[in-house]
Amino acid sequence: MALPSGPRRRPDLSVSLAQYRRRAEHYDLELLPFEPFRAEAIGLLDLHDGDTVLDVGCGTGLSFAALEQRIGPRGHIVGVDPSPDMLARAGSRVTQHHWANVELVRACAADAPLQVAADAALFHFTHDVLQDEVALDNVCGHLKPGAHVVACGLQWAPFWMVPTNAFVLGAALYSVSSLAGLDCPWERLSRRLTGFQVHDGMLGGVFVAQGRLA
Ligand SMILES: C[S@@+](CC[C@H](N)C(=O)[O-])C[C@H]1O[C@@H](n2cnc3c(N)ncnc32)[C@H](O)[C@@H]1O
Repeated sequence: MALPSGPRRRPDLSVSLAQYRRRAEHYDLELLPFEPFRAEAIGLLDLHDGDTVLDVGCGTGLSFAALEQRIGPRGHIVGVDPSPDMLARAGSRVTQHHWANVELVRACAADAPLQVAADAALFHFTHDVLQDEVALDNVCGHLKPGAHVVACGLQWAPFWMVPTNAFVLGAALYSVSSLAGLDCPWERLSRRLTGFQVHDGMLGGVFVAQGRLA
């Protein structure tokens, strides 16, 4: 686990790959307590039939079913994730549901060779991506003007919320490559969006942020 070290630091991919190699098998169960935030985040994307959506750091594809419901078979999901272990599970999910409109890209968000101009982007519990300016540039560069962008994830609660922060620390230590930026995880994203709004959940330990590409 790296310590905070300046505004241009890039996430350490080797840490992340090791974390998600260990977690992939039980990941879907571990995320159960956070599923209400996923539902809220996907609702905020304001998706319509036929839309294209980028699921950045898609993991095992837990968001796909709710995204499919909104975009329908004419829509398109592009799931980006560098973890072969997580992406293999996403692939199994796609096969099992016979979704013909999901493209899985095994890459970091910074390097992903995206071929779309998407209507929306989802960053669901993707702290490392939100801290990486290069990744945000690449994703935002593949969105239509006015595209809806929603992010949610862990954050530090106010300092006096000690039990919440103990929970956040425990969860973050095995899901992010650095604790840097947990005080304001959406800050880099917010600079790229208009109509930016953020609110807290889970006693301040989770944020849900939304805006549109400027
Ligand atoms: C906590 S999981 C979230 C997975 C999924 N979004 C969800 O909500 O279930 C974080 C995911 O981000 C991925 N990730 C880590 N670094 C990344 C990067 N630089 N670009 C894209 N995805 C990344 C990890 O491999 C992991 O699958």
